[in-house]
Parts: sequence; structure tokens; C-alpha cells
Amino acid sequence: MFSGTKMLGHRGAKGEKPENTIGGITYALNLGLKAIEIDIHLSSDNRLVVIHDDTLDRTTNGTGKVKEATSTDIRALDAGDGEKVPYLEEVLDLLNQYSFTLFIEVKAVGCEKLLTEMINEREIHHKIVVKSFNHRIVKKVKEIAPKIRTACLIYGLPVNAVNIIEASRADGISISVSTVDQALVELCHHHNYSVTVWNVNKVEDLDTFVQMGVDYIGTDFPSIVTLE
Ligand code: G3P
Ligand code: CA
Repeated sequence: MFSGTKMLGHRGAKGEKPENTIGGITYALNLGLKAIEIDIHLSSDNRLVVIHDDTLDRTTNGTGKVKEATSTDIRALDAGDGEKVPYLEEVLDLLNQYSFTLFIEVKAVGCEKLLTEMINEREIHHKIVVKSFNHRIVKKVKEIAPKIRTACLIYGLPVNAVNIIEASRADGISISVSTVDQALVELCHHHNYSVTVWNVNKVEDLDTFVQMGVDYIGTDFPSIVTLE
């Protein structure tokens, strides 16, 4: 399904620009990255917004829970350097301008139908990977929209990664660089599942994971390198 190692801009370009913003994402894309990762939550009026935390406090000049704020209130906030908290649609629209794969990490429960409808109505399922630490969300997305690729985020090193992927009917796994090993990569690839690792932030550390054969390497610093 995937071939060759590609770099993935974590939260856009978290280490270099305000995270999960259009400015950060386009910065990474203009450097030549072919994959971007974002996080999504639901606002109180059921809009999908691109933000990592379940509160507004750390990454904006607002306070309180994202799910208790209206999308209008969230849009009035500064997400850093004058950037706004994007609506998911705005990031999806970038797929018309740039050639890249968008990894959408679902942090909110109960948005599977809304998310899959947005992807399907734009006919962009082949450019998307939906992932989550909540594997029930991963499974539900696949049940609703079988054409959308999915991945299970995991902490730690499982005894059998394939069991986890198959239980969620996913297409791959996303795992920390601190725990991934060669055996896991080989097992997943043997079953035609993708492996994404997060995060490598020093150029001298990249080769270990390229040699391991992972499909995507997440980074907070897209400027360190761009791999074909
Ligand atoms: O890509 C995996 C990574 O994004 C998961 O951790 O906390 O950055 O969402 P977090
Ligand atoms: Ca994430």
C-alpha cells in the first residue's frame, strides 16, 4: 500500500510554526513534505476544529474546553502568530492545491459520521489516513467508510501488532520511535500494513528508521530534511 519512507509534518510543523495551523501546514508543504498530521476536536456547535488539546489554553489566547466553545468563539482566538484555529474543511481544501497525504488524528468521540461525510463528499479518501488512540473510533470509521485508510495509534510495544490492527480493521499502525523495532515493521509489512513512527527531530537520527523501512517518519521540524 505504501512504498518508501516519507516525512510527516507533526501537527503541521510543531517545532517551527504554531502547531495545527494553516500557516504551519503550508510551511511544511512548501518545504516539500508529502504528508501532514493534524488533530481534530468537536466544538459545541458540532464543527470539526484542528487543535491538539481538549482545552484552548495552551495553544490559543482563549481558555476552557474546546467542546464547550462555539466554532465562532474558537475562530476569534489567536492560535499563534495571528493564525486562527482551522476548521477541518480548510485543511481538506489544501489537498486541492498540494499533493500530500493527510493523517487526521481523531481526538473527539462521536464525530465519525461527520468526518467520513466530509471526506467522501470531496472524494478525497485516497489522500487521507484517519487514526486514533481510540481504536473503537478507528473501527467505526472503517465500518462507515471502508475506502478510507485508517491506522491505530499505540503506546508501548505490543506482543502482536497485527492483532491490534485486525481487531480495528485498520490499514496500519502508528507507534513511537522509542518503542518501534525491526520485528514490528517486518510483521506489519508482511501483512501489508503501514508503519508510521513519531517523532524524529534530529537529522542524524533519521537513518535508523529509514533502514528499518518504516513508511512515514513524523517530525516537529520539517526543515531538517525532506525525503522523496
Ligand atoms: O502522530 C502521533 C502523535 O501525533 C500522537 O501524539 O500527542 O502528538 O497527538 P500527539
Ligand atoms: Ca497527533
